[in-house]
Amino acid sequence: MTATGAPAATQSVRRIKPARRLAGVLRIPGDKSISHRCLMMAAGAHGESVITGLGTGADIQSTRNVLGRLGAKFRDEDDRVHVEGVGPRGWAHTSDPLDCGNSGTTLRLLAGLLAGSSHRYTLTGDASLVSRPMERVAQPLSRMGVHIDLTPEGTAPLVMRGGSLKPTDCVLEVASAQVKSAILLAALSADGVTTVREPVPTRDHTEILLTHLGLPLSAEPVILEVETDDPRRRSTTKRSDERVITVKGPCQWEGFEYTVPGDPSTAAFFAAAAILVRKSDVRLPGICANPTRIGLFSLLSAMGARIQWEHRKTVGGESTGDLVVGPAKLAARKVSGRVIPRIIDELPILAVLATQAEGTTVIRDAAELRHKESDRIELVAANLRRMGAKIGALEDGWAIEGPTPLSGCDIETGGDHRIAMAFAVAGLVADGETQLDDANCVSISCPGFFDMLDGLR
Ligand code: S3P
Repeated sequence: MTATGAPAATQSVRRIKPARRLAGVLRIPGDKSISHRCLMMAAGAHGESVITGLGTGADIQSTRNVLGRLGAKFRDEDDRVHVEGVGPRGWAHTSDPLDCGNSGTTLRLLAGLLAGSSHRYTLTGDASLVSRPMERVAQPLSRMGVHIDLTPEGTAPLVMRGGSLKPTDCVLEVASAQVKSAILLAALSADGVTTVREPVPTRDHTEILLTHLGLPLSAEPVILEVETDDPRRRSTTKRSDERVITVKGPCQWEGFEYTVPGDPSTAAFFAAAAILVRKSDVRLPGICANPTRIGLFSLLSAMGARIQWEHRKTVGGESTGDLVVGPAKLAARKVSGRVIPRIIDELPILAVLATQAEGTTVIRDAAELRHKESDRIELVAANLRRMGAKIGALEDGWAIEGPTPLSGCDIETGGDHRIAMAFAVAGLVADGETQLDDANCVSISCPGFFDMLDGLR
């Protein structure tokens, strides 16, 4: 079995050969985070919704399957999905476990979405998902009145029974958009105003979608009074990006239309490939340019990359644009603190890029990487070391010295899609052949990944 729980027979080895040039225009599938949220809100709506450009990965299919078990109906038409919703408290009962596959977003957000239902549900997933921490979502939902049981290790299966919910006022202890979103979705069923205080901002797609649907949500940055020792300025007012989000429940909503922009986390692998491979020229149209998601592109620009955003516009409350990327020499940077949640899914590919940057890149405050689809800190470090990189694994990140030539070798993906894609990109600039032990796992977020990469050669 792999970390994704897939039987060994479905794994497939993939050999990556070095590339001379990558060029072309690539359509990146719809953003995974936004797709989960659209499907859930469409399934909880009264009437029909039409979603265009939904993500194509297995994680999105997991959300769709589970919502289908709960009574939502789906019909595909070209790149549109029609969803017939059940209404916010019309979820069907099922005593069978709801299988969320490899998808943490499915399981955690679903716990919030179902919190207003008095049926008993069991949420579970594959070998990787049932080893990931769930107390972070169980605790706030319990405070709202949901009965939740986890394993003694604090993991799924998560067994829940909700019903009438109390609003809560909570500070997010882990900087997690999944936890925040679970509370906001539960708040739609609570009687009164729920407040979530977010000391470190995380992706805000749930807030944007709820606002787009006309639901009573407010999200304000907090203005902090900061004392200063400077005698000339006894105190000064400083804007902080700490956020307070409120939702007034209970809410009902109607079916809606939404267009999902391209996934910046998937675009990141192709952008990285274009930076690393000489003479490349890659254009990625219609990518989500939400500031809470594009930390990697801003950071790479600061490291010297040639990255341009063109045709910026706002669609469904989300900022989008065409990403144009070419090769560049990079300079190392220290990366830590509040930027980390904005770059969390891109850290494996940033580590690969850092091996080719001049100087020592230090990435800290990213211990959350140990709780993703694999322990990404250890797996990235072990694989890069095997390729000849100078990398030290820290408790909460890495120190990476560059530039170092990479050599092709056998890569252990751990069944983790982002590890597989990051090392497919590393293989493009390695000497010799790189072999991924499980190429199929890329289907979690981007089933066409290897064809798309080959199409640029
Ligand atoms: C996600 C939030 C992030 C991210 C994950 C998707 C989301 O996780 O790593 O891939 O859609 O809300 P956390 O919020 O747990 O950090």
